[in-house]
Amino acid sequence: MAEVGRHHAERTKRAPTKLGIVGAGSVGSSLAYAALIRNSADQIALFDRHAAKVKAEVLDLAHGTPYTGTTQVSGGTDLDQLAGSDVVVVTAGAKQHPGQSRLELAGANTALLRGLMPQLVACAPDAIFLVITNPADVLTVVVQRYAALPPNRVFSTGTVLDSSRLQWMLARAAGVAVASVHAMIVGEHGDSQFPLWSGARIGPVAAREWAPAGRAKFRPEELDDIAAAVRGAAARVIAGKGATNYAIGLSAARVVEAVLKDEHAVLPVSSTLSGYHGLSGIALSVPTVVGAEGILRVVDTPMDDQEIALLHRSAGALRDTLRSMKS
Ligand code: LAC
Repeated sequence: MAEVGRHHAERTKRAPTKLGIVGAGSVGSSLAYAALIRNSADQIALFDRHAAKVKAEVLDLAHGTPYTGTTQVSGGTDLDQLAGSDVVVVTAGAKQHPGQSRLELAGANTALLRGLMPQLVACAPDAIFLVITNPADVLTVVVQRYAALPPNRVFSTGTVLDSSRLQWMLARAAGVAVASVHAMIVGEHGDSQFPLWSGARIGPVAAREWAPAGRAKFRPEELDDIAAAVRGAAARVIAGKGATNYAIGLSAARVVEAVLKDEHAVLPVSSTLSGYHGLSGIALSVPTVVGAEGILRVVDTPMDDQEIALLHRSAGALRDTLRSMKS
């Protein structure tokens, strides 16, 4: 009997995985809820400076755990709550108001993270840091500097969320299941983003060649309309309910799982580039292999001339804001 018990103990000896979330606002609490439902991690710890809020969010999540897996939820106002996290997701900071661009949040959120990052690294020195706070691409570069960590350990969800929106809209237009659509938005998580149509597939068919049932294939202007709808998706949700939270929570949980399960998943996360299609020192979303070490490698993705021009345009949109951060 002892022999069987030992094998069972061996099997279950894996160290528990821990997800730390900075900020218990609508995004942070939605990420916690999504991660709980998806069993993304063994432990979820929420940190927020507002005691009543973070304690209420933890209680509300914990009360539902009889209907979820075995994930333990904790949290509070002490940064030590995040100790030992394998992944720390940064959601704290000012959020977009109706009509406001993500880039306009750069000053306020950079100031917040300048002080916070060294403390977070002290609490979770071995963690991978995932930035959601906007402007996510700019803050990825800035946070990496404040954290004094290598570029593979600080990156952003980037256009994972926008790609999810594209997949949903393209599936509806094509009349197929969303799981049959493989398409990515790349570039800035913002107004200069664009679909990588050259790599977009519906089943085995290039999206540009797909003909919905009973009609001709998509016209270029139809695909342009879908791209515009994706770019405007956040503003549309914000106009109606004041913020976006569910889809970004689910998108971030997906990225967290790729890290915690060492999936080597190809995702359009945003990390500081080094010579990608001629771009360096700026963070943009491009197809990237994500695993336990964070950014394993950026995928050398064939792009047509128009797509390369759009990628450089996206970089230009961020460079001015980044320069102002250095001043
Ligand atoms: C959005 C926020 C997360 O795109 O930037 O919904």
